[in-house]
Amino acid sequence: MNYPKTRLRRLRYNRNIRNMFEDITVNKSDLIQPIFLVEGKNIKKEIKSLTGQFQLSIDNAIDFCKSLMNEGVNSIILFGVSSEKDDTGEISCSSQSIVPKAIKEIKNKFGDQLLVIADVCNCSYTNHGHCGTIVENDVDNDLTLETLSKQSLTLAKAGADVLAPSDMMDGRVQSIRNKLDSSGFEKTPIFPYSVKYASAFYGPFRDAVGSGPKKGDRKTYQMSFKNSNEYLREVEQDLNEGADAIIIKPALAYLDIVNEVRRNFDVPIIAYNVSGEYSMIKSSAEKGQINEKDVLMETIHCMKRAGANAIITYFAYDIAKNLNSKNV
Ligand code: PBG
Repeated sequence: MNYPKTRLRRLRYNRNIRNMFEDITVNKSDLIQPIFLVEGKNIKKEIKSLTGQFQLSIDNAIDFCKSLMNEGVNSIILFGVSSEKDDTGEISCSSQSIVPKAIKEIKNKFGDQLLVIADVCNCSYTNHGHCGTIVENDVDNDLTLETLSKQSLTLAKAGADVLAPSDMMDGRVQSIRNKLDSSGFEKTPIFPYSVKYASAFYGPFRDAVGSGPKKGDRKTYQMSFKNSNEYLREVEQDLNEGADAIIIKPALAYLDIVNEVRRNFDVPIIAYNVSGEYSMIKSSAEKGQINEKDVLMETIHCMKRAGANAIITYFAYDIAKNLNSKNV
């Protein structure tokens, strides 16, 4: 025991000395705001389970992008809400589908000022709500790869800066990479959700895009949270297939995984602070049980401390505003 000679509190006694040694920072460039897109004009419909988040028509999405950029958030990830659905999600491969249409307009408007990431998945476009084509009561891996690569090419052609496949099919990075490379898009990066657990924290998101599976669950393709090592193989496989950066989700209850990936692989990591994590903070703050801003800034710093380089979060706009105000 070195006490009383060693007193760790000496480095905490005032703000300047604390600031000197704090080494975890959240930058506005770390933040990625999700946007939910719907057909129509001047639509801004609040999502019940995601207070403060909206389904937006393209014109309103463009306005939201302007507000984000004004606060210094220059990255978004797009999700389509589709009223039209089919068996395989093939409708998502048309250039007239909502997300490619939006990407075209957004890129026309903002060019390289705004990084546009497109989520790649079929669940918003299938009538059964699963992430791929169903054969004999299960999602068929290899048939789904075909739709995913076609959808990716459509999104790349529309101008997406990055593709983020979230389906959890085996081999999708390679299959999308091949499709892009053979069509002249060898420069377009792929950020797969390499580590994606079958999580109840996605509940509000499924409300937002109407993508909950009508029957069954996603456990035959998303990972089990009771499994401690599988994520290492998932990351390794995606890197071997050509992933440029990886997404891990959910974030908060899974920061051990973020940290282990940081220690085991030299790859940029994006943590996805998912819908249920957002809603938990929102609801308890609304009830006056916690201070929203403080809890939010704390959790986001913890994600950085665990090893995330960037964070997808419905709070991106709010965090940037907080960072811009003097009292944070
Ligand atoms: C699509 C997808 C989901 C999320 C991101 N992409 C839902 C799911 O897999 O069911 C969840 C995001 C969130 O909860 O914020 N497959």
